[in-house]
Amino acid sequence: MIKELEKQIADTRAKLFEKLATLKNKKDILKSTELKSLYDEMKVIPNDHKASYGKLLNDLKNELTEASNEDNAGVDLEPIDVTAPADFNISLKDFPELLSSEKGSKNPITAEIDLLLDIFKTLGFSSIESPEIDNDYNMFSSLNFPEGHPARDDWDTFLTHEKDSKNKPFIAPAHTSTMQHRVLVSERAELEKGKPIAYVIPGRVFRNEDVDARHEHTFYQLEGIYVGKDITVANLLNILKVMFSKYFGKDIELKVQPFYFPFTEPSFELAVSCPFCDKKGCSVCSRSGWIELLGCGMVHPNVLEQAGINPAIYTGFAWGVGINRLVMIKYGIDEIRHFMTGNLEFLEQF
Ligand code: PHE
Repeated sequence: MIKELEKQIADTRAKLFEKLATLKNKKDILKSTELKSLYDEMKVIPNDHKASYGKLLNDLKNELTEASNEDNAGVDLEPIDVTAPADFNISLKDFPELLSSEKGSKNPITAEIDLLLDIFKTLGFSSIESPEIDNDYNMFSSLNFPEGHPARDDWDTFLTHEKDSKNKPFIAPAHTSTMQHRVLVSERAELEKGKPIAYVIPGRVFRNEDVDARHEHTFYQLEGIYVGKDITVANLLNILKVMFSKYFGKDIELKVQPFYFPFTEPSFELAVSCPFCDKKGCSVCSRSGWIELLGCGMVHPNVLEQAGINPAIYTGFAWGVGINRLVMIKYGIDEIRHFMTGNLEFLEQF
């Protein structure tokens, strides 16, 4: 009887190994019907043969387990613990391609923004960046642009297809003045405790303009806003004179002429004495000795009121200057489009 059983196991063994070769997941062999029926035999085998049959069957199972493991090399790897601490014993010398002699540098716009922010830090201004997508309220309504007012068209604003909660399209901000209301609201409590609001706001702005050597659809501005008690135009002009003189590294004169912005009253357009020729006239200033550089004015009472600040108690000033233009004048760059092209020959000069 045991001989018969031995043969049955031997036959099944051969079949099982044939089958194993065809299986994708080798472990499935241990669940095969053939193996299972060998085990089922146990129930009908006479007791005195059970032990030897059981041993043979166990040997076969072990053989199959081993074979299925070998063929599955790689499947049973330990899982990787991605939270385990990394091996930081890696030296840059192991990666010579990363040690090339060419170094990157800051884009001149970034470098000059850093410089401007440093200047204003010494004057006690905080800074915050403006976002690159905004809503109608921050771009227009909070800044005293009445609904449907033609001045809304002066900024050549790009609109998106997405609508905000008031069903107005989100916009690509056309100036950094979009931050005025936010800053006024967030600093109002401090203002009421006696601390003037003093902020500069660098940001990327967008205008649907025809592009040429002096006009880009995307450029950078630096906004400034200062609100306190007894603040006048004299304070505004003084801050701007300090800013330009520090930025160009020489004494700069200012010239103002009246202008119109809905969010400032009075509003001015400001020109600076040409830092290249000191008003003698050169190609940078188109022979006039002066360069028109920015818009500014006293914060409109409606803008203060909109932010919950009492214009009978507080006054302030604001300005917005194009950073690209400032950098172009400082370095004698005649093509605004260079900033955006990633042209290495241009960028490596800085
Ligand atoms: N936002 C104005 C512009 O982009 C500049 C400006 C800022 C004017 C703040 C007055 C006060 O032209």
